[in-house]
Amino acid sequence: MEIPSGVYDVLTDPRTVITGDRVQIPFELDRPRYEQVDKVLKQIGGRWDGRKNVRAHVYPFPVEEFMRACLATREFPTWQEQGWYPTPPAVVDDILAHASIHEGMSVLEPSAGTGSIAGPAAARGAVVDCVEIDERRVHVLREQGAARRVVHADFLDLDPLDCPHGYRRVLMNPPFSAALQHVTHAMGFLHDEGTLVTVLPERLMWHCDRATTEFRELIAAADGEWIKLPPNSFAPSGTQVCTVLLVVHGQAGGPLPTHGWHHSQPRQLDLFAGA
Ligand SMILES: C[S@@+](CC[C@H](N)C(=O)[O-])C[C@H]1O[C@@H](n2cnc3c(N)ncnc32)[C@H](O)[C@@H]1O
Repeated sequence: MEIPSGVYDVLTDPRTVITGDRVQIPFELDRPRYEQVDKVLKQIGGRWDGRKNVRAHVYPFPVEEFMRACLATREFPTWQEQGWYPTPPAVVDDILAHASIHEGMSVLEPSAGTGSIAGPAAARGAVVDCVEIDERRVHVLREQGAARRVVHADFLDLDPLDCPHGYRRVLMNPPFSAALQHVTHAMGFLHDEGTLVTVLPERLMWHCDRATTEFRELIAAADGEWIKLPPNSFAPSGTQVCTVLLVVHGQAGGPLPTHGWHHSQPRQLDLFAGA
């Protein structure tokens, strides 16, 4: 949801203190403006603590990093809005540890958000291509300049055939509402000797519906590894959802047996040339 401009002005006012688990506005606002700010801060997950020594909106998670991402895009996530939950730095470190990035390695981040994974991967020397569906986040990614390419598109519409050599690493934290489709599709972009590392909801380890069961079979056939993340790993992004990392290696001799998508869809316009 978009941050109204009056609220944005207050949150970016140099007098506003956003630190640790709280947002403190130590100056007077007129009533309508206060109500607007209060509404947004509560929608993000805060509660007003009026005690004399606090007088702040307090969050059950560290709000500073999260608020920085929100202010960069002038929006904050709601469940309805594409599942935008920036990956917290500790989880990014875990992803990168499993990815063993080295200088010049090609990396795809197919649902890149504001670059929580892509930025640190590029800082380690990777050559990163990003895909992101949301225009505001695409703008932030381009401003950051960490990625070689930022493609503004629905990743599920992109054709793996436009990326014949594949990426050495695919690193992702997809929207959980369509996680299976995103990860299955992303496998088509993986180099034979590449590795995909993704954050996923823990429920995919045990849900018994057909799509999830088939997905686990696909992962088992590729010797994929499920690694549970500590509880509350995503608390800094305002959600208590239990999460895992999934690590899958590409397979020599051809792409993993995904959904045959590439047999039925038209080719795109060379979006990944040079990957
Ligand atoms: C859970 S967030 C993760 C963002 C980023 N990967 C990170 O780790 O901070 C998911 C992101 O996927 C984007 N997204 C959702 N559907 C998409 C799609 N079909 N194609 C590309 N990006 C998509 C959302 O806009 C959001 O930024």
